[in-house]
Amino acid sequence: MSQPTIESILNEKRLFEPPAEFANQARINGMAAYDALYEKAAADPAAFWAELAEKELHWFKKWDQVLDWQPPFAKWFVGGKINISYNCLDRHLTTERRNKAALIWEGEPGDERTLTYAQLHREVCQMANVLKDLGVKKGDRVGLYMPMIPEAAIAMLACARIGAPHTVVFGGFSAEALRDRLNDAEAKVVITADGGFRKDKTIPLKAAVDKALENNAVPSITNVLVVQRTQEDIYWQDGRDVWWHEVKPTTSAKCEAEPMDAEDMLFILYTSGTTGKPKGVVHTTGGYNLYTHMTFQWTFDHKENDVYWCTADVGWITGHSYIVYGPLSNGATSLMYEGVPRPSNPGCFWDVVEKYGVNIFYTAPTAIRAFIKMGDDRPNARDLSSLRILGTVGEPSNPEAWMWYHKVIGGERCPIVDTWWQTETGGFMLTPLPGATPTKPGSATKPFPGILADVVDLDGNPVGDNEGGYLVVKHPWPSMMRTVYGNDERFRRTYWEHIAPKDGKYLYFAGDGARRDEDGYFWVMGRVDDVLSVSGHRLGTMEIESALVSHPAVAEAAVVGRKDEIKGEDVYAFVTLEGSFSASDELKAELKQHVVDEIGIIARPGEIRFTDALPKTRSGKIIRRFLRNLASGEEVAGDTTTMEDQSVLDKLRAGA
Ligand code: PRX
Repeated sequence: MSQPTIESILNEKRLFEPPAEFANQARINGMAAYDALYEKAAADPAAFWAELAEKELHWFKKWDQVLDWQPPFAKWFVGGKINISYNCLDRHLTTERRNKAALIWEGEPGDERTLTYAQLHREVCQMANVLKDLGVKKGDRVGLYMPMIPEAAIAMLACARIGAPHTVVFGGFSAEALRDRLNDAEAKVVITADGGFRKDKTIPLKAAVDKALENNAVPSITNVLVVQRTQEDIYWQDGRDVWWHEVKPTTSAKCEAEPMDAEDMLFILYTSGTTGKPKGVVHTTGGYNLYTHMTFQWTFDHKENDVYWCTADVGWITGHSYIVYGPLSNGATSLMYEGVPRPSNPGCFWDVVEKYGVNIFYTAPTAIRAFIKMGDDRPNARDLSSLRILGTVGEPSNPEAWMWYHKVIGGERCPIVDTWWQTETGGFMLTPLPGATPTKPGSATKPFPGILADVVDLDGNPVGDNEGGYLVVKHPWPSMMRTVYGNDERFRRTYWEHIAPKDGKYLYFAGDGARRDEDGYFWVMGRVDDVLSVSGHRLGTMEIESALVSHPAVAEAAVVGRKDEIKGEDVYAFVTLEGSFSASDELKAELKQHVVDEIGIIARPGEIRFTDALPKTRSGKIIRRFLRNLASGEEVAGDTTTMEDQSVLDKLRAGA
């Protein structure tokens, strides 16, 4: 089993047609239907989206202008008034969906809850009113630091309902990381829980919030709203901290959804880039609502009675778009699971599929690779016949993992949708439509209708079939990020200036290399910048380097990705020490923990290698290419004559 290499996927020629019985009942039933949609959208993207916006969503007021494109700044549905919480809740209440399950939830210890649309609406209104009582107004930012419990979704929808942009911070990030994000967003309130259950442990979320807020380190915060989950003892600050279960019973369940401008900010989500500081990706309301709605509906071929399960955490964009907003806007039943596979229950995913009769299952290749290692017995012992569609996200899917997913989980009858997208894109960009697109293991296949994607060189010229290049998008789309929070310039620099504008048109580029084959299928090759994907989690090498050098023992650090069978990539750090410190296993462990404290458990280096010096160019730039080779145990490839000191490489080789 391995990560896809150019060679392995270049040789991948297998093609899987959608099964006829599936295609017959699908919303987009066959390539002719896809092609027609694609052509229609490409001919006039704005008209295409406007037609869908009118048909699929509720608007308090229709827009005056579909698209205002002042590159690289886009506005969609200008002048329109909309509320995504209304589209996810209220509009279903007058239909038969009222008493349908909106969220089915299973906790890691085995506790269960189901919230119908009517119940979810009620709880969202109550939390919205609690936020208002705490002084949160339209436009105020609210931080969320939550376990995977229904209240995470309730909190997001409550914020959206009153027009307070949320910024969700994944519970695996440390107190330091949380503090930075809350400060950047200048959040007014944080919603958290006493803790959460994960891998048979409790995660002390409230304690991390307390630490983040220590010494008034986030001056904008006035209150912390705390959901009870683990019932462990926690520190309590009177006047600041509020128990949700104490205020809820006396809080009104009536709260009208605030009519928002289509371009009002819906949320900020921080993501790693090539600099030390994560970027606050800004998404707005109308375009995001439409795009997540349509991509969910068509890509998962959603049917009214489906049980849909996305295994992501709401702390990531996948959870935002495809646990909460996309599914609920469609009136779907979205399953939320608190746990992850763990030694005490490695088969929990298949238990959950069987128990709830899951029809659509969406997960990450890293999870699939881990399951392959555990053998076929566990999935084979469960009835997985309810499954209709399988999906993957987050990293390239290697053909071996794809085939296992297809055979062992999908029983060779479920189309697999390999969805390529990003925090920045808001929704799926390249993906098969399950009743239409013949799939090739390892390819995200073709653009979603309305997306004009290409593979180009640095000058913006399309490259030939099967030649590697940069994956770009040529026309704005409704759910594209609008800016980096508080930093338009960084937005422009990061996404729009790496590739030269072509014929005066700006090309969106967010860091992936790709090739397109002779059938027009895209093969995403992974990041071409200093961003790692560790178990599908996005991490910046600079971010980890900054964390390492903030430790007194570290003089210099260079972080690269090392290929890993399960995680895709693992964090590998080369470290030089300050004079008075010497290398030891204890120091290694201490530095790993230091990264966990600074960023979070997901960034913990798999390996730290002490060295006297790092390979550098004569101008002092670290040559990461060599370090990547060394970390992966490969021959150092490429020209080494530009190095300042050749002996550095010799020593590193000898030490390996
Ligand atoms: O490198 C691509 C990879 O994940 C990156 C985006 O990470 P993030 O913003 O955290 O969002 C992940 C969930 C959408 C991309 O730049 N990526 C995502 N999906 C795929 C993928 N790489 C290959 N194939 C995919 N299906």
